Amino acid sequence: MRIVCVGGGPAGLYFGLLMKKLHPQHEITVVERNQPFDTFGWGVVFSDATMAAMRTWDPESAVEIETAFNHWDDIEVLFKGTRQRTTGHGFVGIGRKQLLNILQRRCMRLGVELAFNQEATGDLDFPEADLVVASDGLNSRIRNRYADVFQPDLVVRPNRYIWLGTKKLYDAFTFDFRRTEHGWFQAHIYRFDAETSTFIVETTEEAYQAHGLDRLDQQSSIDFCQRLFAEVLGGAPLMTNARHLRGSAWLNFTRLICGKWSHFNGASHVVLMGDAAHTAHFAIGSGTKLAIDDAIELARQFEAHGHAAEKIPVVLADYEEVRRVDVARIQNAARNAMEWFEVVGRRYADQLEPEQFMYSMLTRSQRISHENLRLRDRNWLEGYERWFARRAGLTVADHERCVSPMFTPFEVRGVKLANRIIVSPMAMYSAEDGLIGDFHLVHLGARAMGGAGLVFAEMTCVSPDARITPGCLGLWNEAQAAQWRRLVDYIHGHSAAKVGVQLGHAGRKGSTKLAWEGIDQPLEQGGWPLISASALPYLSQGPIPRAMDRSDMDRVAADFVRATELAASTGADWLELHCAHGYLLSSFLSPLTNWREDEYGGGHENRARYPLEVFRAIRAVWPAGKPISVRLSCHDWTEGGNTPEDAAIFASMFKAAGADLIDCSSGQVSKEERPVYGRLFQTPFSDKIRNEIGVATIAVGAISEADHANSILAAGRADLCAIARPHLADASWTLHEAAKIGLVSIGWPKQYYAAKGQYEANLARAAAGK
Ligand SMILES: Cc1cc2nc3c(=O)[nH]c(=O)nc-3n(C[C@H](O)[C@H](O)[C@H](O)COP(=O)(O)OP(=O)(O)OC[C@H]3O[C@@H](n4cnc5c(N)ncnc54)[C@H](O)[C@@H]3O)c2cc1C
Ligand SMILES: Cc1cc2nc3c(=O)[nH]c(=O)nc-3n(C[C@H](O)[C@H](O)[C@H](O)COP(=O)(O)O)c2cc1C
Repeated sequence: MRIVCVGGGPAGLYFGLLMKKLHPQHEITVVERNQPFDTFGWGVVFSDATMAAMRTWDPESAVEIETAFNHWDDIEVLFKGTRQRTTGHGFVGIGRKQLLNILQRRCMRLGVELAFNQEATGDLDFPEADLVVASDGLNSRIRNRYADVFQPDLVVRPNRYIWLGTKKLYDAFTFDFRRTEHGWFQAHIYRFDAETSTFIVETTEEAYQAHGLDRLDQQSSIDFCQRLFAEVLGGAPLMTNARHLRGSAWLNFTRLICGKWSHFNGASHVVLMGDAAHTAHFAIGSGTKLAIDDAIELARQFEAHGHAAEKIPVVLADYEEVRRVDVARIQNAARNAMEWFEVVGRRYADQLEPEQFMYSMLTRSQRISHENLRLRDRNWLEGYERWFARRAGLTVADHERCVSPMFTPFEVRGVKLANRIIVSPMAMYSAEDGLIGDFHLVHLGARAMGGAGLVFAEMTCVSPDARITPGCLGLWNEAQAAQWRRLVDYIHGHSAAKVGVQLGHAGRKGSTKLAWEGIDQPLEQGGWPLISASALPYLSQGPIPRAMDRSDMDRVAADFVRATELAASTGADWLELHCAHGYLLSSFLSPLTNWREDEYGGGHENRARYPLEVFRAIRAVWPAGKPISVRLSCHDWTEGGNTPEDAAIFASMFKAAGADLIDCSSGQVSKEERPVYGRLFQTPFSDKIRNEIGVATIAVGAISEADHANSILAAGRADLCAIARPHLADASWTLHEAAKIGLVSIGWPKQYYAAKGQYEANLARAAAGK
């Protein structure tokens, strides 16, 4: 076959050499517009996994690369006058020039033709080629020519960065965060050869503009960075090797995803590779790794299907299918890490103490969890756990293993939770006349004995017509309060758990069948009229609610107040106002369901007016020593609906009105919603609200292991974690998770004590067997 790689970066060179090595009969040319030693950039970092693959596919170049590598294990963070270090992170770095030179030499030795100083106008320059590899980088001309086929989706990210170098050598991957009068700047620093370190400086567009960096030439920008990072530079100058860039050398990162990766141009097959196909932000330094992995996969597909021109279509299809998955995974992690650096100034740097800031930074991509950090650097992690536990009020001796973050207490107003795990409210549709029955006593009692710090019963409705279904709990009369009292007394008497009451009104989602008889389906008999912010049905063919007038508002607010007074009389510890999931109060907050033209519709203040009226009314009658949380749908997942930005505005309003915590849920407001599910998928909302608004939060949603909860809490992404479905599967979720992470100091109910040691020993045996 005749193969032309347009672009002699890591992707083009590595693919060229692999193919020539595997099948020397191929005629392979790499066309590169630059000189062999002319390259922009400094060092790049690799993972151990990519290096292992390179060792398998071409040991000759791998040995040379590994010899040239700089390996380091430590990460050091300079922040607010502190210098913190952790180990076990295992990176390798190499100069980009050096890497390219090794690959160039290897290509030449194998007989790959390298055509330097040759600018290709596109794939049609090579009509005789069977395969043209578009390895021409982010600004790929070839990809742009066939934009309608490749469907590139390019997003220019808001932060600015400048890629510099220095002769000062660092023995750790170093991050330095500096505050100026206009905002935060961060430097990402790592050594990559015997004399040089990469020094990338990043900041927000606002800080960049405010310092006038857009108007400075390169040297003045370098002078600015030198002054700002003088301490970490220790007098060493910063250098650029991008003198060819005119004007400001500050760039924006562009995120690229392509809808398709290959195309037949009538003469040759064309395939995208490396940065031409996708990009991953330097925050997790994976661009070169992805380029090399692409090259390996395409070569592997030729090995699998045969090195023949007629196999090219199937090879390209399989290459794209395999690589797409891995690339998406890395891009996700890179996006998390990139976003962390984009918001670090306004969200974390001013708010968090250095210890927690460091933890938050280390876990920024959300690929590294709490237990993963323990594997990397047990001493550091245990030191951090002690710090966290002391902040939570525990007395812990140095060098003593202490409980992990989820088992630290949390105190708000006069209520102290023994740990940070909540049984999230879950409708059970098993009540008659709104009464707590034996089912609830056993169900909730078991979960309280299962170790959670706070047990919520399901949404408890403030009037008969506030119910979702005839099976929902209610609190509108003394009989109901009496049954609640029985439950609260049982839980207080037999566990350390506190009891939470979630008050709500179903609004337009009311008068429906029990979940197992048809979720959201209107009752055929015995239903009741619906009210909502506006006269809009939940289901397109469903019953139309009446838009509430002032007298409805007064009546419902009074119902909430009565329910709160009854709840207070039961001795329950915690109240939550349900303003999420499309129910009555949520229907005011969302523009999808609130089309009102009076002072209760329109902007944020108007949409929040009625939910806040209700909140203030219940706050006035709920005991001052007990907290109230507010559950919000922090994302409607629907075009035109609320987004996390809107949720943050509402959160600040509830905070100002006296809410103690925001319980950060999402969705269920519109049937048109398109949620993006995944592990911890709602935690970013909690993170944003907690750290930007400065209010305590509850994270909820797809948190299913202690490791998840500990990672969230330790990083300060939430104060508490609510666990719903896992608690249906396992009433003792909290106790079992403690045992799974080896925390044997967590007490079990005295009646069950005989099982504790056996359970822990079985787990230990299973782990040892692995
Ligand atoms: C600030 C910064 C830091 C980074 N840090 C890291 C890191 O630490 N680790 C990491 O792995 N990655 C890092 N990267 C990303 C990395 O540089 C790229 O992802 C990687 O080089 C992609 O390889 P590639 O071969 O696809 O493209 P490139 O390396 O961009 O190579 C494309 C080549 O094509 C040539 N070319 C383009 N058009 C033509 C044409 N028409 N004719 C002939 N030649 C052409 C170009 O001259 C270039 O040599 C970083 C990037 C930036 C911006
Ligand atoms: C059966 C069931 C009933 C639920 N009922 C309620 C409810 O009454 N009030 C509420 O705010 N959320 C309710 N939810 C949502 C949960 O509290 C929680 O937010 C959601 O299930 C995500 O958490 P998970 O991934 O841990 O299950 C319910 C969830 C389930 C599975």
